[in-house]
Amino acid sequence: MEICKEEESFVRKILMKLGIENNIESCLIGEGYTGKVWKISDNFCLKVSTKIDLMDIPESFKSCENLCVPLKSGVSQSGKYVGHILRYLNMCSLESLIKNNIKLTEEQAKMILYDILKGLNVIHENGYVHRDLHPGNIMLTKDNKKISAVIIDFDDMQPMNEETKACFRYNGYQAPEIIFDDDTYDDKSEMFTVGVILWELVLGRCPFGGYNFFGKIIEESWDNYTEKTAYYNNRTKDALKTAPQYLKRKNGISDECFDLLCSLLDFNKSNRITSEELLNHPFFIKETEKSFKTKKENNIYNDMERD
Ligand SMILES: Nc1ncnc2c1ncn2[C@@H]1O[C@H](COP(=O)(O)OP(=O)(O)O)[C@@H](O)[C@H]1O
Ligand SMILES: [Mg+2]
Repeated sequence: MEICKEEESFVRKILMKLGIENNIESCLIGEGYTGKVWKISDNFCLKVSTKIDLMDIPESFKSCENLCVPLKSGVSQSGKYVGHILRYLNMCSLESLIKNNIKLTEEQAKMILYDILKGLNVIHENGYVHRDLHPGNIMLTKDNKKISAVIIDFDDMQPMNEETKACFRYNGYQAPEIIFDDDTYDDKSEMFTVGVILWELVLGRCPFGGYNFFGKIIEESWDNYTEKTAYYNNRTKDALKTAPQYLKRKNGISDECFDLLCSLLDFNKSNRITSEELLNHPFFIKETEKSFKTKKENNIYNDMERD
């Protein structure tokens, strides 16, 4: 990873201000599309980005443990860089799980998905869209043996309105109305992305989306793709439309998970489920009932002990 002089001196200045004597080469832990991230202590990291036209992030985002928003930010003297202090997340991203073909059980995926939805619901209910939601921007972190999923990278977040457009970076996660019609981007468009992520976590490669999707087309036959875009797009549309039949033939997914994937990946955006509705979906309700039952059983057990 290359660090330019101005960026380096900005990072050094911040570290000095914080009284941290880290070697800046060795604590560089991540790089994305717009920025680099340095681990500065057991609990915090520093992201330096060139995306400086950032918007004010609502205060309520800071109190949601499933969102990792800047705790403090400052711009470099030239105005070229912005530095953010962030909570340090100590595990990997969902991108590395998916790219390493690590499939999760439905129970594991359920816990991760629930966390993503809690975070996403805070974003959507405040009238914003993240716009860069993909598995590389969802990280896992472990605190006292509890693993949670956290949404990162708020550089492209925007208020949701009629003019809001998608940020085309990982096209394999975009909803059909975005890919095929460049439609307005809203919370329902973002829910489609959640569906592709859930598919990849539980089932592996997705026939109409995911990391490798557009990459694969390009890799295998870019010339064919540019010449016959309509043909490839129709193939994608067909795969999307036949997704429920495809899922029905798959073994090992529960009825609730099947239903959930269909509601997230509905071709028609108006039928797609919202994050709020999803938090009350039987896929999760069943879990709540189960933990309630366990609690009840535990109470009985405690009562027995007391006797
Ligand atoms: N809070 C964090 N804790 C630990 N690692 C992080 C954190 N935020 C980002 N990273 C790492 O840095 C990488 C780039 O961060 P990201 O915010 O996605 O930058 P970009 O806007 O350039 O995509 C991430 O993929 C991840 O590996
Ligand atoms: Mg990123």
